[in-house]
Amino acid sequence: MASITVRNLDENTKQALRERAAKNGRSMEEEARLLLGDTRDTPDSEYTSHTRILPRVQDEILDSTDLTDKRILLIIGGGIAAYKCLDLIRRLRERGAAIRPLMTKAAQEFVTPLSVSAIANDKVFSEIFDRDDEHDIGHIRLSREADLIVVAPATADLMAKMAQGHADNLASTVLMATDKPVLIAPAMNPQMWMHPATQRNIKTLDSDGIQFIGPNTGEMAESGEAGFGRMAEPMEIVSAIGHLLVPDSEPKPLFGKRAIVTSGPTHEPIDPVRYIANRSSGKQGHAIAEALGRAGAEVILVSGPVTIPDPKHPETIHVQTAREMQKAVETALPADIAVMVAAVADWRSVDEADEKMKKEDGKGPSSLKLTENPDILKTLGHHKKRPSLLIGFAAETENLEKHAQAKLKRKNADWIIANDVSPEGGVMGGEQNTVKLISKSGVEDWPQMNKTDVARRLVDEIIEHFSVETLEV
Ligand SMILES: Cc1cc2nc3c(=O)[nH]c(=O)nc-3n(C[C@H](O)[C@H](O)[C@H](O)COP(=O)(O)O)c2cc1C
Repeated sequence: MASITVRNLDENTKQALRERAAKNGRSMEEEARLLLGDTRDTPDSEYTSHTRILPRVQDEILDSTDLTDKRILLIIGGGIAAYKCLDLIRRLRERGAAIRPLMTKAAQEFVTPLSVSAIANDKVFSEIFDRDDEHDIGHIRLSREADLIVVAPATADLMAKMAQGHADNLASTVLMATDKPVLIAPAMNPQMWMHPATQRNIKTLDSDGIQFIGPNTGEMAESGEAGFGRMAEPMEIVSAIGHLLVPDSEPKPLFGKRAIVTSGPTHEPIDPVRYIANRSSGKQGHAIAEALGRAGAEVILVSGPVTIPDPKHPETIHVQTAREMQKAVETALPADIAVMVAAVADWRSVDEADEKMKKEDGKGPSSLKLTENPDILKTLGHHKKRPSLLIGFAAETENLEKHAQAKLKRKNADWIIANDVSPEGGVMGGEQNTVKLISKSGVEDWPQMNKTDVARRLVDEIIEHFSVETLEV
């Protein structure tokens, strides 16, 4: 078989390989081997994709998560990602949690107990045979006095110890001696993560009821390495902790899915006071963003200028023009779901006057030269980071179904929600909507509903889409 040395590749090729490897959850070397047609010893990455037991949730949900009086025993393992613990501790304390840090010996090679102790505002525990702490069997007390044990970073070694039931240091002993929930955030080199021994340990820990957050896929601290093994970000860990300690009664079937929603009109300036716009109110897009958020998705709402308030949960990015909206949407990628509801102006004025254009007596109106705006739905449909479920809205005043079918194909969307926005229907700006869901498999006519119900029904369809997809895997 052919061979290449990854470090001899030029920077662009290396970057492309890194991204491809990260996407497929492999190391760069493994990805290169596969590209060259060598499938020897390629680990089965199947398990990597469903060990994210507690995936990401949006920061907004977390921000409202109150961890007051929650006691967290944070076990810090000896990996490069240990530095992220300082930020994790800070964010947990900001939310009212009390953090008791426990560091393995190896962890102390990466961050100092002094920094951890200062940020946690508590002493760092590390010794099993500590005369001061163990006179009353301190390792049992550490577990008893916690509501949750978090291991971050969870090293391959610590996971192996947990899976095998070792109790040869304070961390492993506490983990053996506890009946409290345990959340681990693994962090290791992709090869270590893929190693059959680690994969066996993951299975064991999973069946022992240990909760996982991450690892993520992406670049590793070691240069030139990418793949599964990167520790979840502190805010993701905070999310998972919130999820465990403050469980929400509502089911979250879209938990772990990331969605981008656009809403409202765009305003395309002609001069400082005039603009081209349409009558979209943002009610439908905002309702969909909210419904996705309630179903547990991490939602980024990109809203044009509207007069309705921002929804409570999704993060809202405010834009004015189609170009700004496109930029915000592309910046928010990658996403699992994109619902492009905004009524983006098709055209904008070629020139934007710096000063207000004056009416001059006898000259008549000046003509407006228009140019096409970017087509956001089409851009996403052909994007290299295309969301796996891409939904567009088609606002039509005639030949609804025909236009929507054509739009579905042209824009490479999965579904089009077609609504008749003829003025007599009162859809634009109104409370009600009558839509058709058009997909490759046919047309579904929905009865007239208010926009909140349209949003709920659409989110139900999205939930069903993903549950079917999961079953098919
Ligand atoms: C520079 C360096 C970085 C390391 N990074 C990791 C890591 O990210 N993940 C991991 O599982 N082990 C890593 N190791 C290996 C662990 O430090 C080693 O297995 C240690 O015994 C773990 O101890 P602990 O599990 O008690 O913390 C690293 C070692 C070194 C020297």
